[in-house]
Amino acid sequence: MNIKTVATTAFPDQKPGTSGLRKQVPVFQKPNYLENFIQSIFDSLEDYQGKTLVLGGDGRYYNRQAIQIILKMAAANGVGRVKVGQGGILSTPATSCVIRKYNAFGGIVLSASHNPGGPEGDFGVKYNIGNGGPAPEKVTEAIFARSKVIDSYKILDSLDVDLDSLGESKLGDMVVEVIDSVNDYQELMESLFDFELIKQLLTSGKFRMCVDSMHAVTGPYAHAIFEKRLGAAAGTVKNGTPLADFGGGHPDPNLVYAHDLVEVMFGDNPPDFGAASDGDGDRNMILGSNFFVTPSDSLAVLAANAKLVPGYKDGLAGIARSMPTSQAADRVAAKLGVDCYETPTGWKFFGNLLDAGKATLCGEESFGTGSNHIREKDGLWAVLFWLNILAVKQQTVEGLMREHWQTYGRNYYSRHDYEGVDSDRANTLITNLRNAIPTLKGKKFGNYEVEYSDDFSYTDPVDGSVSKQQGVRIGFTDGSRIVFRLSGTGTQGATLRLYLESYEADTAKHNLDAQEALEELIAIADEVAKVKELTGMDKPTVIT
Ligand code: G1P
Ligand code: ZN
Repeated sequence: MNIKTVATTAFPDQKPGTSGLRKQVPVFQKPNYLENFIQSIFDSLEDYQGKTLVLGGDGRYYNRQAIQIILKMAAANGVGRVKVGQGGILSTPATSCVIRKYNAFGGIVLSASHNPGGPEGDFGVKYNIGNGGPAPEKVTEAIFARSKVIDSYKILDSLDVDLDSLGESKLGDMVVEVIDSVNDYQELMESLFDFELIKQLLTSGKFRMCVDSMHAVTGPYAHAIFEKRLGAAAGTVKNGTPLADFGGGHPDPNLVYAHDLVEVMFGDNPPDFGAASDGDGDRNMILGSNFFVTPSDSLAVLAANAKLVPGYKDGLAGIARSMPTSQAADRVAAKLGVDCYETPTGWKFFGNLLDAGKATLCGEESFGTGSNHIREKDGLWAVLFWLNILAVKQQTVEGLMREHWQTYGRNYYSRHDYEGVDSDRANTLITNLRNAIPTLKGKKFGNYEVEYSDDFSYTDPVDGSVSKQQGVRIGFTDGSRIVFRLSGTGTQGATLRLYLESYEADTAKHNLDAQEALEELIAIADEVAKVKELTGMDKPTVIT
């Protein structure tokens, strides 16, 4: 076995963000850039020698090359076995599922999620721990600390591995096992949902659906599950072949980027149900005919109806949502008499709550929903959950949502993103807000009076770790909220995220357009934070 130790120089910028290390492809292609980060991961872990690692990615540009490098480095660092998805393909939720099912030590996910791919697009590396979830901050901090001082890495000098044929082969002393990308995940889904009932719905001739995989990783999963197993009509899955550049698109399932699906669902004779997923398959967008479900509402509806679904028939231990996610789920939790947790942005904060059995369902406003079945959010799981509920209740998407609002009231919600903002200006905006916090309480803006304002800080109820400065919140006496934070996943300049929420109990007022309902809050946000002036933009780049 020929293990090489290669001298290298540390890069100062390998700090993992909200979800792993994300950079533009040319950065990852710099000599030793990927290798340094991978070695920093191995150097920060203990006792993984001889154990199993799971490896896969969303198929974006540089996926295959990176997998070959990581396999050779894993072999050189003493990993016992790597389970790698066929063709290098494993969605993020499937990776989490495989880590858990086979008690792997951990896993490496190659993805920049919803960021565009291709030679000039983005690439990313995320390390997941043995529970199947993203590494917590103490692990990512250790990886970053190591990356700043690393001076060599280990790699096996060998030929590339055949990633396309299922089965085992040897790379030095390590076993490489190429696994079917879909099987384990599909089996898990069958254990949670009533596939026969969903099949009846999808083959009844009375229900049409359209699933947009956006040329990203969920294509093979969606074909296998919806068309092959559940009998949906051929062609139900659109853009179902993963492409290295996602067909030039931006694989983010929202009203702006999933435009093909939006045209279908808001066009003539629309299907009954529409869904899209992102690059690595952990996000989802749910649509009905001429109807958009906000991710915050989706979490609330799934929670309220969970008992109708076999995997959740015994009820929920609790619900967790990220801080900027609307408070719609809190109302459901209150009615169910279970705890509701408010965590910082990023799925990693749900891990401890799920492991400790404190939460069953989790969600983020950024099109992420999931449960204790794995430790990542899960796009197709959310689609199946919706289909299972619709099959039981025999309702339309809009009908189900309106009924929910009637019971719980409606939380109008929107997120305004200002992308590509000069970093200094974005930081000034946040610093100004932080400075203003002590002066805001009791202040009146039109109909609204500030009840509280803070920079969100979270103390993990399980391990006591504290995460500070997670977003500036301004809460009003009627329960409305404005939240400001900077994105931790972008790769160019800064992205300011402005989250807006207001509550409406009166059913007669549930028909407004969200932007209309939030108009006054939008103006207050600009008054308080000088968004237009400081970003130099008069409108957001993306509104969801
Ligand atoms: C964004 C979302 C966040 C999500 C993350 C990874 O992070 O806002 O909810 O967990 O992507 O998908 P951000 O760019 O806001 O830091
Ligand atoms: Zn994603």
